[in-house]
Formats: sequence, structure tokens, C-alpha cells
Amino acid sequence: MKRFNYIAVVMLVMFVSAINMNAQITGSGHDFTTLSWNTNGQICVFCHTPHNASATEKPLWNHNASAATYTMYTNSWSSTLNGTVASTPSNYSKVCLSCHDNTVALDAYGGSAGSPSHTISSITGTKSNMGTDLTNDHPISIAYSAALDAGLRATTTSVPSLGTGKTIADMLKGGQVECASCHDVHNSGNKGKMLVMANTSSALCITCHNK
Ligand code: HEC
Ligand code: HEC
Ligand code: HEC
Ligand code: HEC
Repeated sequence: MKRFNYIAVVMLVMFVSAINMNAQITGSGHDFTTLSWNTNGQICVFCHTPHNASATEKPLWNHNASAATYTMYTNSWSSTLNGTVASTPSNYSKVCLSCHDNTVALDAYGGSAGSPSHTISSITGTKSNMGTDLTNDHPISIAYSAALDAGLRATTTSVPSLGTGKTIADMLKGGQVECASCHDVHNSGNKGKMLVMANTSSALCITCHNK
């Protein structure tokens, strides 16, 4: 019985530490340290640098920008889309698309072009290659306002799962819905798919949409 308790405690400790390890960027899809070509062994450098950062993208941005032209979300099939999607993604989302549109190598950072074979589609089993056609993705770079749609909540609506005092306004970037409205690029909460909150019972969707 004593031995059984000991094993149970060891297993519990191992289980808890495994959770802790993943509850961050380490070990997430944004940790490239295990990719064979990542010779520098670092994590942050693909996106950030303390010096000589991009003048355009923030914060302290180090990944090469994409020159792609995107096809933005439209809806000509029904008249439910009231807001105006910008003609091109804002820089808040362009930083994500600089890897996720598959036109720039993951190791294209700090001005180095990287290897053309190291784009996001080179990662086995990836669904993360969004391409440049964003017509099949939730609208981004669209100003959020409850006035757009009776089914959208006020920006002052509190979002307790993001922390005390947080509201929908905190999910917006420059007042707009962007990739980072729904995703946490550093996977800090380990909510699955790098979401800002678990989407159990569609909690993320219902945060903004009063459905
Ligand atoms: C895959 C790209 C990527 C990687 C890798 C990455 N970041 Fe970030 N980081 C971003 C983006 C994008 C933002 C802006 C987030 C936003 O707009 O919400 C950001 C914001 C930040 C910020 C400011 C806002 C905040 O969350 O505090 C800090 C500090 C930061 N990152 C530190 C780091 C450190 C340290 C590492 C390495 C352990 C790292 N990041 C790895 C993309 C990345
Ligand atoms: C430096 C390149 C790079 C940048 C910049 C980047 N990503 Fe990623 N992202 C990746 C790679 C590589 C993966 C892993 C792909 C895979 O394994 O399927 C990934 C995976 C993801 C995933 C899937 C996570 C999962 O658990 O399945 C999400 C969501 C994601 N990224 C969102 C973002 C968002 C949002 C931004 C901007 C705020 C961003 N990424 C910026 C390279 C990048
Ligand atoms: C309105 C919320 C929302 C926005 C905005 C959003 N995403 Fe997502 N994204 C999600 C959800 C929810 C999932 C998980 C879907 C699932 O599990 O099937 C997801 C999944 C992903 C995945 C993983 C795909 C897979 O099947 O493994 C990637 C990569 C990703 N998003 C990147 C992005 C990028 C880059 C942007 C901006 C161009 C973005 N997302 C904008 C909500 C959003
Ligand atoms: C940060 C707030 C926010 C979150 C979170 C969010 N949405 Fe949205 N969504 C919007 C806004 C803003 C619009 C544009 C409304 C408009 O223009 O009428 C929109 C539009 C839509 C539309 C209508 C598109 C059209 O063509 O009319 C659908 C469907 C939708 N979202 C589904 C989802 C789903 C599913 C989720 C969860 C995965 C989600 N949304 C999460 C803000 C959000």
C-alpha cells in the first residue's frame, strides 16, 4: 500500500510538471528548438530581437515581412457582414501571416532570407498553412463595434477568463479583430490551439457574439 502511494505521488508530480512545461511557449508550435535546421537553439529570435528590430512591425519584431497580397474575407452570399474588412491585413495580423501565409521561410529573420524549404508547410501534418486567401477565415482587420450587429456585445463587456477587469476591448488590437484577439502567440495559458481562452461550449465565440 505504501509503495502504491509512493508510485501514485511520483506519477502525479510527473503529470503536473508535464502540464507546466506545456503551459508556455516551450514545447508549443512556436518553439522551433526541436526542428533539425534550428541551429541557434533559441525560441524568441524567430520573432523578436533586442536590437535592430523592424521599424514597421512591433514589438521588437525580427521575422522578415511577407510581400504577399491577400484576398480578404467577404460575404456576398448573405447580408450578415455589416462591418468593413480592411483591404489588407493590419500589421497586428501581418506579423502572424509572415509565417502562416507560407510565402516566407520560418528561419527568415534578422534580415537573413532563410531556406525556401523551411516554410510552414514543411512541418509534417500542418494545417497551419493559411495561404494568402483569407476568404475562408474569420474576418480580421475589421473594426469591432456593438453597433455593427445586434448580436455583438458591447466592448465594455467583462471577460473574466482573461483576468480581473478585462473586457472585450482588451481582445481588440487598435479597436479591430485581429489574429491575436483569439490567439495567444506565447501559449501562456495552454488553452489548446494557442487560444486566449478554451473554446469549450464555444466560450470564445460567445464572448463577442451574443448567440
Ligand atoms: C512566433 C512568434 C513569437 C515568438 C516565438 C515569441 N513571440 Fe513574443 N510576441 C509575438 C507577437 C506577435 C507579439 C504581439 C502580441 C499581441 O499583439 O498580442 C509578442 C509580444 C511580446 C511581448 C509584449 C507583450 C507581452 O505579451 O508581454 C513580449 C514581452 C514578448 N513578446 C516576449 C517574448 C519572449 C521573451 C519570447 C521567447 C521566450 C517570445 N516573445 C517569443 C510573437 C512571438
Ligand atoms: C516565425 C514564424 C511564425 C510566426 C511569426 C507565427 N507563427 Fe504560429 N506557428 C508557426 C509554426 C511553425 C507553427 C507550428 C505548425 C504546426 O506544427 O502545425 C505554428 C502554429 C500556430 C498555431 C497552431 C497551434 C496548435 O496548437 O495547433 C496557431 C493557432 C498559431 N500558430 C497562431 C499564430 C498567431 C496568431 C500568430 C501571430 C500573433 C503566429 N502564429 C505567428 C509559426 C509562426
Ligand atoms: C475569431 C477568432 C479567431 C481569429 C480572429 C483567428 N483565429 Fe485562428 N483559430 C481560432 C480557433 C477557435 C481555432 C481552433 C479551431 C479548431 O480547433 O478547429 C483556430 C485555429 C488556428 C490554427 C490551427 C489550425 C489547425 O487546424 O490546427 C492556426 C494556425 C490559426 N488559427 C492561425 C490564425 C491566424 C494566423 C489568424 C489571423 C490571420 C487567426 N488564426 C485568426 C480562432 C480564431
Ligand atoms: C473578438 C471578438 C470576436 C470573437 C472572439 C469572435 N468573433 Fe465572430 N465576428 C466578430 C466581428 C466583429 C464580426 C463582424 C460582424 C459584422 O461585421 O457584422 C464577426 C463575424 C462573424 C460571423 C459572420 C460572418 C459574416 O459573413 O457575416 C460569424 C459566422 C462569426 N463571426 C463566427 C464566429 C465564431 C464561430 C467564433 C468563435 C470561433 C467567433 N466568431 C469569434 C467578432 C468576434
